Amino acid sequence: MLAYRHAFHAGNPGDLLKHWVLSEALALLNQKKKPWCAFDTHAGAGVYALTQRIGGRLPEEWRDGVGRFWAAQAEAPAAFATFRSILNAFNPDGTMTVYPGSPAIARFLMRADLPDRLYCFERHPTDGEALRQLFARDPRVSVTLADGWQAAVKRMPPPVRRGIVFVDPSYEGAKDYGAVMPFVREVRRRFPQAVVMVWYPLLKRYEVPILVRRLRNVLPEDHLWVELAVTAPPKSGWGMYGSGLVVLQPPYGLHERLQEGLTWLHGLLAQPNAPEPRVESRTR
Ligand SMILES: C[S@@+](CC[C@H](N)C(=O)[O-])C[C@H]1O[C@@H](n2cnc3c(N)ncnc32)[C@H](O)[C@@H]1O
Repeated sequence: MLAYRHAFHAGNPGDLLKHWVLSEALALLNQKKKPWCAFDTHAGAGVYALTQRIGGRLPEEWRDGVGRFWAAQAEAPAAFATFRSILNAFNPDGTMTVYPGSPAIARFLMRADLPDRLYCFERHPTDGEALRQLFARDPRVSVTLADGWQAAVKRMPPPVRRGIVFVDPSYEGAKDYGAVMPFVREVRRRFPQAVVMVWYPLLKRYEVPILVRRLRNVLPEDHLWVELAVTAPPKSGWGMYGSGLVVLQPPYGLHERLQEGLTWLHGLLAQPNAPEPRVESRTR
């Protein structure tokens, strides 16, 4: 049940998409001098060493994701400026060895002169403990070792009513697909101002299109939907061929940034037979 370790997947194409979108969304919130809070319901270990073995295995998936991005970053459109600056701050000697996960990205984008806050939830004892140690001396970050579906809503509404709820489960079994909608509805009830970002894998599972359709109907007039496939959908089997995000109440300007960068990212990561990337938004 707790077999999933994000370290093996850190920096893969799915991570690249979600972390680019998260970075841009927070950077847009930073344009106003008002504090924000970020909830990371499935936070992982925080940072990942890409060149160290875990249980005898080296992580490899990053080579087709952030490895390509790192090599081509000088050509990246301006829409990647924030994400690039974060990657470079974590790898100051010019070699990509450390990949910042979502909590590290949110922490990086907090402003010193405003009371921005980060609430992290992680259920895996090893990754949760690593995350707790990472932020042990940081009063602006709280790390709760618990089920994020249950524990995150208990902290809502937060004192700062402006922010992002980042929902990034591992979708190991069917359970996570079923947990997303009740969770999102509860977030909408308790913290209606929140930008809610839900990442999902592109897999040949019937639950995926159902989830996307339901999410897009929570706030049908105000959401953004982005999908990046990196290979053709497999003719058989369950392999992941890309990923997507639904963003409810996206910050103003996010759609344009994603439009500006998505085609370039697709050209960088996708095989020639992969479907075209998509980004759509509906606004009030
Ligand atoms: C896709 S990874 C998260 C990666 C992280 N959000 C990032 O972007 O760097 C999913 C994480 O959720 C954790 N997890 C699985 N079920 C959980 C639950 N019910 N509550 C909290 N964390 C959970 C897993 O241990 C794993 O670390």
